[in-house]
Amino acid sequence: MPTPLARKFTLSDLRAARTAGAKVAMLTCYDFTTARLMQEAGVPMLLVGDSAANVILGYDMTLPVTLAFMVEITKAVRRGAPLAMVVADMPFGSYHGSVARAVRAVCRMVQLSGCDAVKMEAAESQLPAVRELADAGVAVIAHLGLRPQAVGVLGGYKFQGRTAAEASAIVTLAGRFAAAGAAGILLEAVPPEVGRAVVDAVAVPVIGCGAGPDCDAHVVVSHDTIGLTPRPPRFAPVVGDVATPLRAAFAEYARRIADGTYPGPEHAYAMQPGEAERLRATTMPSSAATEPQPSPQHRTPQPRRHAQPTATGPQP
Ligand code: KIV
Repeated sequence: MPTPLARKFTLSDLRAARTAGAKVAMLTCYDFTTARLMQEAGVPMLLVGDSAANVILGYDMTLPVTLAFMVEITKAVRRGAPLAMVVADMPFGSYHGSVARAVRAVCRMVQLSGCDAVKMEAAESQLPAVRELADAGVAVIAHLGLRPQAVGVLGGYKFQGRTAAEASAIVTLAGRFAAAGAAGILLEAVPPEVGRAVVDAVAVPVIGCGAGPDCDAHVVVSHDTIGLTPRPPRFAPVVGDVATPLRAAFAEYARRIADGTYPGPEHAYAMQPGEAERLRATTMPSSAATEPQPSPQHRTPQPRRHAQPTATGPQP
């Protein structure tokens, strides 16, 4: 049985877990209902990822989502999981250009969404913004390794840190972000050796997303792990298949409409006594309206009429 979260999970809990060597689960989440289920399942950390661009909106990259969209879905997740630590992803373009712009965008996200932390894909040029935000008291997670927003320069969604030189650049940058005040590092799609090296190099929690077992917490795109994406990445564990029962339920609904078993009397709201007759009197031709009509409860059931689908649409 799942153990629902009993109290608010905070950055202090994440730090304490790292000290204790306890691993923390994090999932991406994009809506109120799923957030509620995740909190009930005891998932302590939720990432409102810009992967929403892929799994919610159907884009093949994360770049199109806007700050307004990310704020709105983060608010929904916050409402669904008040006890989880909710981390909001800063979308492409919202935190670039200048420190002032980054601070304005992050403050907007924090104030409007109620998130507990923000995540930024972190190139060296974001160091001053992270420093400024940390000074302002914002918990910033610096996302290194595979940075999907940088797909243009990376030349595709490729594993990072596969050579010693690439790996040591990631480890060095992680150290610099931690020194600048980042509350944590998120490492995506790097070999386990790089995950280990970053964990050893920094004093802040390291969240892995395909970064090996040594990270302090692990996050994956929830759709990848519950059977909702056709080709999940290798590092995503498949822990369930919700696509099959969902498809079956949708098909069952469509079947009930087609064969007329829905809606049935049990789905109907009753009119107040006598109102059905009054309605008929106002809507029927005067000769029909004067004839006595049985009340709905006593009417002999009639076979239901169904519109037959045709190439040109329903017949009158
Ligand atoms: O947007 C996202 O879901 C992410 C995770 C893949 C780490 O950034």
